Amino acid sequence: MHIDTMETTALVRAEADLEQRYAALQAEGLDLDLTRGKPAGDQLVLSAALDGSLDGDYRTENGTDTRGYGGSDGIAEARRLGAAWLELAPEELLIGGNSSLTLMYLYLLGAHRFGLDGPRSAWADGPAAARFLCPVPGYDRHFSICEDLGIEMIPVPMTGEGPDMDRVEALVSGDPGVRGMWCVPRYSNPTGETYSADTVRRIAALGRIAAPGFRVMWDNAYAVHRLGGETPAPENVMTHCRAAGTEDSVVQFASTSKVTFAGAGISFFGGSRRNVDWFRARLSVMTIGPDKVNQLRHVRLLPDMDAVHSHMERHAGLLRPKFDCVRRRLEEGLGNRGIGRWTDPGGGYFVSFWSRPGLAKETVRLASEAGVRLTPAGAAFPYGEDPEDSHIRLAPSFPPLAEVDRAMEVFVTCVELAAVRSIRRSRET
Ligand SMILES: Cc1ncc(COP(=O)(O)O)c(C=O)c1O
Repeated sequence: MHIDTMETTALVRAEADLEQRYAALQAEGLDLDLTRGKPAGDQLVLSAALDGSLDGDYRTENGTDTRGYGGSDGIAEARRLGAAWLELAPEELLIGGNSSLTLMYLYLLGAHRFGLDGPRSAWADGPAAARFLCPVPGYDRHFSICEDLGIEMIPVPMTGEGPDMDRVEALVSGDPGVRGMWCVPRYSNPTGETYSADTVRRIAALGRIAAPGFRVMWDNAYAVHRLGGETPAPENVMTHCRAAGTEDSVVQFASTSKVTFAGAGISFFGGSRRNVDWFRARLSVMTIGPDKVNQLRHVRLLPDMDAVHSHMERHAGLLRPKFDCVRRRLEEGLGNRGIGRWTDPGGGYFVSFWSRPGLAKETVRLASEAGVRLTPAGAAFPYGEDPEDSHIRLAPSFPPLAEVDRAMEVFVTCVELAAVRSIRRSRET
């Protein structure tokens, strides 16, 4: 029954039942964690062949010994793989270390401190604080980078097909202090949505209406992370940029963090030749060359995109039961009762849940006191501020299935308890 139409006496009874269920769960002394989107142990085993794949042969196809210094762009085989991954030419790509987030940080640090177009273009030296558009709900670590660099964040709502582009265009064209924008174009963290063709085309055209030096941070972290269903890949943003004459306005990132080893993968930076040259110059101050041994190990395990996709199918086989479990618990516990809504993603690592307004923090608190850790409410918003106090990110990849199931039982109970309590109290006043 829809919660708003329940009689007050039924509501009081439901609350008492829920209190009892909650107390019983609390008494179990659970210790469960749905906080971060990490691959589980059985997923890491899928890449066990990385270890030993070189078998003493450290040379690339052109004879380079990967154990030495140098090779700042990355080995040719890895650039070819990254190029296919991001649909760019190999010359439009650099290979980085295990973290694409590091590349994003370094790119923005360079733009902020040194400028993308000579010393006077440094964002930090502009007349006002640099501003960045942040589609919300979004990825908390993107927001941490902005906070760390003192870049002011402007939230923009997601629509189910990517960011609200009317709003984005108005902000970009109306404010020269807007230096860029975060984008996770496929299976976005945390809403799971994939940008529509129209969204991609309009993002590619932003460089025409933005102030000079505007950059879209196109973080394709989930480019190959399909769980099932038929979500088509987003259109190639660079193709649209070339058509619009805005090649420099988009820089792209991805990594193998959720493909091979989260802490020991390789990362990709992609963009126009000009952006690649600029970033190579920055990186070459920091390092004499990346870890080419790991690049070689990766291309031995995953020589091309066919290998990547079949590897990802095996990941999906392990992840799907956990996402199915989340959906089933939510549908059975809360379906059609006006207590919340949620996503059913075709890929990526997260389920987004929206409670009734004003109840996300309370739900997370209740869950924590029953032994289930959740990502803090508000984490998917700049400065941790969800104006509706409604969004909660669920990350079911890491715990074993039985624990996901238990954690979701607790979660559903907490959502329902928070909702019933709040409606009952509001009827008292
Ligand atoms: C959108 C997004 N970008 C980047 C990352 C981190 O990538 P990496 O491990 O390559 O630093 C994550 C990890 O959760 C993510 O969700």
